[in-house]
Amino acid sequence: MSFPILKPVDPSELARRARSHWTPDRLERLMAGKRLPLHPVTHCAFLHATGLMDDDASVTSGQVKKFLQINHMINLIAPPFQALAKAMPGRALTLLDAGCGNSWLSLAFAFLAREASTGHSPQIRDWRDTRFDLHVIGVDTNATVIAQSRDRAAVLGLESVMSFQCCTLQEAVLPDRLHAVMALHACDTATDDALALGLKKQADLLAVAPCCQAELAQYFKTPDALQKGASPLGVIVHSPNLRRDAAATFTDALRLALVRSMGYEASATEFIPSAHTPKNRLILAERRGRWNKDGRAEFLALKAALGQPELALERAVSQELAARFPD
Ligand SMILES: C[S@@+](CC[C@H](N)C(=O)[O-])C[C@H]1O[C@@H](n2cnc3c(N)ncnc32)[C@H](O)[C@@H]1O
Repeated sequence: MSFPILKPVDPSELARRARSHWTPDRLERLMAGKRLPLHPVTHCAFLHATGLMDDDASVTSGQVKKFLQINHMINLIAPPFQALAKAMPGRALTLLDAGCGNSWLSLAFAFLAREASTGHSPQIRDWRDTRFDLHVIGVDTNATVIAQSRDRAAVLGLESVMSFQCCTLQEAVLPDRLHAVMALHACDTATDDALALGLKKQADLLAVAPCCQAELAQYFKTPDALQKGASPLGVIVHSPNLRRDAAATFTDALRLALVRSMGYEASATEFIPSAHTPKNRLILAERRGRWNKDGRAEFLALKAALGQPELALERAVSQELAARFPD
């Protein structure tokens, strides 16, 4: 999804248009009664600068989808991120946006964190009076979106707290420690690369909304995978329609169990109603530090039930797993 870079509009004129366009009825249709971090009137300058609002302050249906995705994701990440900032006062927190694309999520995050740090956070109640010393790194293989992200960060005055790299996640040059990793619809196994980076760098917070989980679906298509009759799951994996959904669910279940085994409290949750995107699952994990044998057993049992597929995430952290679980 891409939206054109709009020419600057005089800020007071844009604010006037936003106030006049966003009638109570329109606001209700957009926000559905929810308190969202970004508000179309309060944050019209941000939304316009990032291409999520048109010159007349309206928001197209495509822009609405992205607007809601980033709002709902930030709503879920905001509380654990604030807890992190409070636990490490005075420490700079580094956040990676893996497969950042146009960087709407991380631009919004950095923008809202700056608002909070300047004592002005109208929308995220919990962030009021929290000082964030934040550095956001966006990584994407697409040179066009990285250039656009840099431009937008500069327009918003966020260039000192954001940096961007055009490369794969595996090639990214990152600090030894990441505090949070987020990935919104990073394609297929890029979600695993994001999780693996977070796990290796001992990130305190992982928040990934997976995209197309194709790896397990490909494995299920192979003739010797879970033969009908030999496995109770055979009937699922040899029916194309059931296989697709099951592959996505099992992929995320394996990710969850693996992350838990590596010392995280992790859950999978619906972060946005499916009407706005069918890719609406968020894996949210907070590091607790203690590696977990029960999580390991859960992972191995599920993997065995699925016919021992080895997925990208397991390969990516194989050294760490071998060191801790020499089974
Ligand atoms: C569906 S887009 C999502 C972009 C953005 N997170 C958003 O929600 O708008 C997925 C992005 O992941 C990037 N990507 C895919 N594989 C990657 C990899 N291995 N390393 C870095 N970026 C990757 C693509 O270039 C693309 O911009």
